Amino acid sequence: MRGKFVVLEGPDGSGKTTQAKELAARLRNCGKDVVCVREPGGTILAEKIRALILDSRDDAPNARAETLLFLAARAQVAAGVIAPAIEAGKWVVCDRFTYSTVAYQGYGRGFSPSVMRDLNRFALPEGLEPDAVAFIDVPLETTFARLAARRGTAADNIEKAGGDFHRRVREGFILQAKTTPNATLIDGTGTVEATSEAIWNFIKPLI
Ligand code: TYD
Repeated sequence: MRGKFVVLEGPDGSGKTTQAKELAARLRNCGKDVVCVREPGGTILAEKIRALILDSRDDAPNARAETLLFLAARAQVAAGVIAPAIEAGKWVVCDRFTYSTVAYQGYGRGFSPSVMRDLNRFALPEGLEPDAVAFIDVPLETTFARLAARRGTAADNIEKAGGDFHRRVREGFILQAKTTPNATLIDGTGTVEATSEAIWNFIKPLI
């Protein structure tokens, strides 16, 4: 039997990573075999690409190179990890996916969101679609406060982009939450438990 594919999305500092762990634990409690993936990353090559995108100092990728690197990392993890796990009946919980490219490189960097969607389609094995997408929303102040608390001064290449960039990214996520099938927008400003409960109520019917 085919497994399920669940995606968590949201701006920097929205708490997706914590929530992905919470969700995986709840699913395991229900007896599900769960594979967690973070994007960019999830295979040896994709983790190397992640470092190239986020940590390049002297020759940071320009916006087009950055976009194609995110897509290369996605192509690798989608075909090598996500699709086979679903095929094997597992649940895949993915921390970021195609919607991040539409939000950050589309709305944020200013490339056409529909071109970003076409590139995503090219990067993925045919027919690979999430069964559910939870967009966690936080205001810009939360993004900046949580980034500052977590990293001090060592922001990565994406986080260094300015306030307007992050405002457009957030709007890009909110728009996609409204237009994506099987998606919902979740308030990420409450406690970890409250957000986790809201995500669980959304995902539970898939079990
Ligand atoms: P993430 O792992 O969520 O950040 P962190 O480890 O700091 O919590 O994502 C890394 C950054 O990459 C984040 O700023 C969002 C960005 N990103 C894009 O710009 N486009 C994409 O397609 C993806 C997957 C991530």
